[in-house]
Amino acid sequence: MKESIKLGIFGLGTVGKGVVEQLRKNGALISQRLGKELQITKAVTANPTKDRGIDLSDIQISSDPKDILDDPEIDIVLELIGGVTDAKSIVLEALQKGKSVVTANKALLAECTEEIFNMAYQSKGLFGFEASVAGCIPVIREIKSSYSGEKIEEISGIINGTANYILTSMIEDKADFQVALKAAQDKGYAEADPAFDIEGTDTAHKLIILMDLAFNGLFDLKELYVEGITKITPLDIEIAEQFGYTIKLLGKAVNTDKGFEGRVHPTLVKTSNMLASVRGAFNAVAIKGNFMGPTLSYGAGAGAYPTASAVMGDVIEISRNLLQEAGQLVPPLASMRDQLSKKKILPMSEVTTEYYLRFSVLDEVGVMSKITTLLGENDIGIRSMLQKGEAHSPKDPIHVVIFTHKAIEKNILKALAKIDSLQFVAEPTNLIRIDTE
Ligand code: HSE
Repeated sequence: MKESIKLGIFGLGTVGKGVVEQLRKNGALISQRLGKELQITKAVTANPTKDRGIDLSDIQISSDPKDILDDPEIDIVLELIGGVTDAKSIVLEALQKGKSVVTANKALLAECTEEIFNMAYQSKGLFGFEASVAGCIPVIREIKSSYSGEKIEEISGIINGTANYILTSMIEDKADFQVALKAAQDKGYAEADPAFDIEGTDTAHKLIILMDLAFNGLFDLKELYVEGITKITPLDIEIAEQFGYTIKLLGKAVNTDKGFEGRVHPTLVKTSNMLASVRGAFNAVAIKGNFMGPTLSYGAGAGAYPTASAVMGDVIEISRNLLQEAGQLVPPLASMRDQLSKKKILPMSEVTTEYYLRFSVLDEVGVMSKITTLLGENDIGIRSMLQKGEAHSPKDPIHVVIFTHKAIEKNILKALAKIDSLQFVAEPTNLIRIDTE
């Protein structure tokens, strides 16, 4: 039996450093649980001589991937560089050589799903990616193991810490969007390109991974509907609060009679819903199964230590398997490879939900009746409405806000196209979908 498990790390950024620190601090505890020692023997990084503010003296650091990939002593490769191109070659080559791999790279898994998982299914190495979704929350393990007897009906997740941090700061501290984003970047939550966080891309990457696992499928990222949080204004936040809602960036997947819904967008969530209390960079994932009913898992979704902890959990689980020579007990994507088929996502136009519509209009006679007539003609029922603001000159727009009953999205878009072309409309209507839970 092996005397120790040797790790090679690609990337000594936020997460890579977190993993080194966790092993330094909890190494003795981990050895007691594993029965053997975990050792990081090598690291590969673009800038090997950079001072990273932690003791790395016992790790051989270089910039040549071969130093890890060609080292027969290394059992587990940790891919923590992010990005897709280089990360893909590292993961594929390591698995192909029969090494085990742990990655936190959601973009890689969502964009190159088939290539990566085909190799993971074939490889003698084991594959862990718990850190790729929702930081330290073990949601991948839940779906792959605990819920493997369930037909999963619905997933609703706050799975981007940066976006949730920004929305929380805007709601609770009346913070400016850009100031809140800068604070999230300073805390190490944001992606290298923060557009991924605020435009919903990172949430989309994570949602696709959860959908593949939950629905025995290979879904196409390009079919997901993705909208970020950049159009949310303090006025929308204020009106939402007045009507008993908060605004969250949700990733939602539903197994409906019509097909699989998959969508990422800002959402009005009732303040009584537990997801509404998820603040700052925390994440939460609500999953409904046909036998277990609803569940909710909560924890830190971003940041060095929570993400490192998820990586370490995978490293220890894989080490146990390697020490027992147990092989891959749970299939990488939860189902047997020959049972995984390509699955389609319903077009957004077919989704039915409730809507918040904020019209910016001139304060003229007949405006309200024209809007409500066009909504009615498109089968859209009104649940409540509000007029907000006061025009000090005929050119000053005011706001009319309508909360609808459930309606199909294609009807909403048809009605808005007509309304937005009317001469009294000052700005395009702001539409936010409402979570009906
Ligand atoms: N930028 C990501 C987030 C990091 O804010 O959630 C964790 O995946």
